[in-house]
Amino acid sequence: MADKKAQLIIEGAAPVELPILTGTVGPEVIDVRSLTATGRFTFDPGFMSTASCESKITYIDGDQGILLHRGYPIEQLAEKSDYLETCYLLLNGELPNAEQKAKFVGTVKNHTMVHEQLKTFFNGFRRDAHPMAIMCGVVGALSAFYHDSLDIKNPQHREISAIRLIAKMPTLAAMVYKYSMGQPMMYPRNDLSYAENFLHMMFNTPCEIKPISPVLARAMDKIFILHADHEQNASTSTVRLAGSSGANPFACIAAGIAALWGPAHGGANEAVLSMLDEIGDVSNIDKYIAKAKDKDDPFKLMGFGHRVYKNFDPRATVMKKTCDEVLAELGIKNDPQLELAMRLDEIARNDPYFKERNLYPNVDFYSGIILKAIGIPTSMFTVIFALARTVGWISHWKEMLSSPYKIGRPRQLYTGETQRDVKTLETR
Ligand code: SDX
Repeated sequence: MADKKAQLIIEGAAPVELPILTGTVGPEVIDVRSLTATGRFTFDPGFMSTASCESKITYIDGDQGILLHRGYPIEQLAEKSDYLETCYLLLNGELPNAEQKAKFVGTVKNHTMVHEQLKTFFNGFRRDAHPMAIMCGVVGALSAFYHDSLDIKNPQHREISAIRLIAKMPTLAAMVYKYSMGQPMMYPRNDLSYAENFLHMMFNTPCEIKPISPVLARAMDKIFILHADHEQNASTSTVRLAGSSGANPFACIAAGIAALWGPAHGGANEAVLSMLDEIGDVSNIDKYIAKAKDKDDPFKLMGFGHRVYKNFDPRATVMKKTCDEVLAELGIKNDPQLELAMRLDEIARNDPYFKERNLYPNVDFYSGIILKAIGIPTSMFTVIFALARTVGWISHWKEMLSSPYKIGRPRQLYTGETQRDVKTLETR
């Protein structure tokens, strides 16, 4: 892949030749691994210009608004595939045929239950604990139940851990919700699809088992697909870094959940609804647009902007379409939050400040409105994101461990004190 070279000219030093590596599509990279021989590091806080790894899983073109999973456009996967097919694709590199799909779905279904003792972990949390706090805890705790499959060097162990995590996340997410409601936790059912099963565990009770709306199940499945993976985002990079130390997969995914929680990342979907509630009415939009533009005001338009997309986020487009379908199906007309969101979207897109900075709605801008329409509380929105992104996280973890890798250990530009001697307390 190295067919070109870059030359680094450093004053007073010999030029340094650095290979340029070319991928199948997208930007070339300058391989700086040999730079340490010059006694220098690259400096790139926030990794604005850094490719941390080589990957074959997901490709994003931020200028064109393109998102491909193993080469397939996200729009086509959302329309023509389903979440478990997308999981199979991300894990294995190809969409399954009917036989492969049936086997994979069957395997996932056989791992949806969690150990009965895991329920006792919940009792340590307050009922009003944030669902993401509980998810961080119980997902990490899964390590304590699977001593038989924690050898990360064993491909079979890596495979069964991936299946267990994909299969159990909906069960755990629903358990978190039921715990917050004080309702009995529901067991998974093998006669339901992945999304139907999740909605069953969320909203049914032992007293009444209602059929799951196929429209809501399809919308839920589509939301899972749209959140499945997104290249080297903050939480995926966290999972890769944790995995590079040899940590077990459950601990790595718990680290990814923690990183996703932040409002600049996966926590944005919850923050969008809080923002819409705070804005309250279309008449207040101008005031909040001004706040978003004010450098002295920490307020940002949640659900807007993206490190990579400097054009529309293709997921937001599909999400908006799904939003319209779900609200229409539920007979929800003129949903005030959707009206407010659409007006905010329209005003921001025509405002020079947002246009100059290429700030468009991202995946989180409309997702919350659908989730709320489905009946999911705002505090559970990021849990849904974590549930769906687990396959992306574990696919990158598997990809990294399937070929030679090194522990991730960045360096720094040190600007602190040079060496000095400790004075005794009396003389300080
Ligand atoms: C996700 O990385 C991924 O792939 C993430 C994700 C995934 O699937 O994994 O796509 C999921 O995390 C989506 C993003 C969700 N977050 C939000 O919606 C929170 C609001 N967005 C911002 O916090 C921000 O846009 C980020 C964090 C998403 C991106 O930040 P960057 O790339 O560091 O860009 P920046 O903060 O340097 O912004 C550039 C300029 C700045 O103004 P100037 O200094 O140039 O004058 O744009 C401004 C920013 O102040 N800006 C915003 C803004 N986002 C950026 N101003 C107002 N409102 C915003 N939302």
